[in-house]
Amino acid sequence: MNPAIDPAIFRQAMRRLAGGVGVITVGTGEDRTGLTATSVTALSAEPPRLLVCINRSASAWPLLTEYGSFGVNLLDSNQQDLADRFAGKSGEKGPARFTGTRWKSLVTGAPLLEGALAAIDCTVEEVIERHSHAIVIGRIEAVDLGNWSDPLLYWSGLYRTTRDLPSVPFAAVG
Ligand SMILES: Cc1cc2nc3c(=O)[nH]c(=O)nc-3n(C[C@H](O)[C@H](O)[C@H](O)COP(=O)(O)O)c2cc1C
Repeated sequence: MNPAIDPAIFRQAMRRLAGGVGVITVGTGEDRTGLTATSVTALSAEPPRLLVCINRSASAWPLLTEYGSFGVNLLDSNQQDLADRFAGKSGEKGPARFTGTRWKSLVTGAPLLEGALAAIDCTVEEVIERHSHAIVIGRIEAVDLGNWSDPLLYWSGLYRTTRDLPSVPFAAVG
């Protein structure tokens, strides 16, 4: 590591990158879990591929490698409670994170959220383990498009909606 670069400064820089919020889901039945992730990125449209960066200490990681498939569920602004739950904020683990919401499966069996902005069913094409994380490349097996609605955003360490953006105080940015 370049000792001149303070990780705290890097974190501050990355907090200025606004992003959408997704929930990555893995497994089936009582053997399922997931995590909230802002690192979801389209890799290519032809062929359809995406990537997500997952901390290898997350509880979802061993299941993802075991099942070889995962769901990417893009959240709308009414689904912040779900983002909190899948970030482990209130302590629920595994299948408890899924209670109170409706899920279905399409091709791979990975849980896909009913009412997501979009739910994308993936098989793992490649995993690149690097430092604390893994870059997971997903091959798109099915896409479930939900209704258009206001996306859930994450910026400067807080959830936002597009309605917040004109009035966000820049002084709050770390
Ligand atoms: C807004 C937000 C975005 C996150 N993005 C990522 C991410 O891209 N990759 C990741 O590994 N963890 C990310 N996390 C952290 C995981 O959601 C969290 O560590 C995980 O759910 C907890 O792991 P556990 O399942 O072991 O309890 C994010 C958390 C929040 C609140």
